[in-house]
Amino acid sequence: MGKTIVITGGTGGIGYQAGLALAKADPQNVIVITGRSAESGKAAVEAMKKDSGNPNIHLALADLSMQSAVRSLAQDLTDRFQTLNPKPSTLTSAP
Ligand SMILES: NC(=O)c1ccc[n+]([C@@H]2O[C@H](COP(=O)([O-])OP(=O)(O)OC[C@H]3O[C@@H](n4cnc5c(N)ncnc54)[C@H](OP(=O)(O)O)[C@@H]3O)[C@@H](O)[C@H]2O)c1
Repeated sequence: MGKTIVITGGTGGIGYQAGLALAKADPQNVIVITGRSAESGKAAVEAMKKDSGNPNIHLALADLSMQSAVRSLAQDLTDRFQTLNPKPSTLTSAP
């Protein structure tokens, strides 16, 4: 059974590559990538879907330099996804 994996800073750089690898590893994995830019975030989602063949790629937007945005992101993720696997926080690409 796939896992729901959140990668902060996953719309670019090493976070994107980590998300891509996890999306390829199991087509049932649900990958949520975060960043600040909606434009580059949407492009990253489409690229990850195409490059991995996994359609379960989602975007969450937040500027994590602000504590209030961290809390909002946590609420957004809780609202949108029924189960979150906590382990992938170790994969976080912290900007
Ligand atoms: N690349 C390397 O070889 C390397 C090696 C060692 C360590 N690191 C460290 O690993 C981290 C990531 O490096 P990278 O090269 O992958 O960076 P990157 O290409 O700049 O990617 C950063 C990611 O973080 C997001 N981001 C940046 N600032 C943010 C903020 N305030 N709130 C939320 N999201 C934010 C970006 O999306 P938006 O711009 O849309 O927000 C993007 O998704 C950095 O801390 C870097 O110092 C990198």
